Amino acid sequence: MSKPEELKIVTTADGSKTVYHTIIQENYHSRNGALQESNHVFLNSGLRYYLADKITSQVAVLEVGFGTGLNFLLTQDFCTGKEITLHYVGLEAYPLSLDLIKAADYQQWVSANTWALFQANYEKALTENVMLNDFCSLHIAAIDAHIYQTDLRFDVIYFDAFASANQPEMWTKDFITHILSFLKSGGVFVTYAITGDLKRIMKSQGMKIEKAPGAAGKREMLRAVKP
Ligand SMILES: C[S@@+](CC[C@H](N)C(=O)[O-])C[C@H]1O[C@@H](n2cnc3c(N)ncnc32)[C@H](O)[C@@H]1O
Repeated sequence: MSKPEELKIVTTADGSKTVYHTIIQENYHSRNGALQESNHVFLNSGLRYYLADKITSQVAVLEVGFGTGLNFLLTQDFCTGKEITLHYVGLEAYPLSLDLIKAADYQQWVSANTWALFQANYEKALTENVMLNDFCSLHIAAIDAHIYQTDLRFDVIYFDAFASANQPEMWTKDFITHILSFLKSGGVFVTYAITGDLKRIMKSQGMKIEKAPGAAGKREMLRAVKP
């Protein structure tokens, strides 16, 4: 999956770009707007929801399917602005080239500093945990998320896998249970989709689930909190 020649940059409805995978025929973000989806599903319904009732100076985020790094960039920008220390781990089995990431042009949606730090450290972050500045560390584990293991525990999980129609192995009970094992008690799991199967899996793991309004083009999305 994801050979460079199989990927192309496309523009979504809100003017932001994403990557289109020509073999599985799926975008990395919603065609209704990459930027609005990342902001709505992950930053606002995930991280900001988690932080809303807390006084905290740090947060740890795990992303399944790091891709272009748009979710990370928006999260880093937000946390740096609030002086919240961010520990971010992205899982990515098929890392994109830096050239492709640059072609997505995300510098227009985040501060110049956030963008500069990301592109300067992207390749290093694929091999180790990197401190980007006083407030942010990034590690992109270039690994199949099914075999990822860590002693770290996270406050928020951004679950951004391809749709189950294309990658059913990312939506099984075993895999989602594996990913939930990295979530702290009180932590928040968010994803852009919501299905009966997903709700059943969440309930079987004791998660408190909530249907949240979906990003443009989707009525609902799933948010779940670990008791
Ligand atoms: C919908 S895209 C995510 C887009 C990404 N969050 C972004 O902002 O660009 C799904 C991502 O999951 C990655 N992926 C697919 N299978 C994976 C696996 N087994 N483990 C980790 N990542 C995987 C894909 O390469 C792709 O980058």
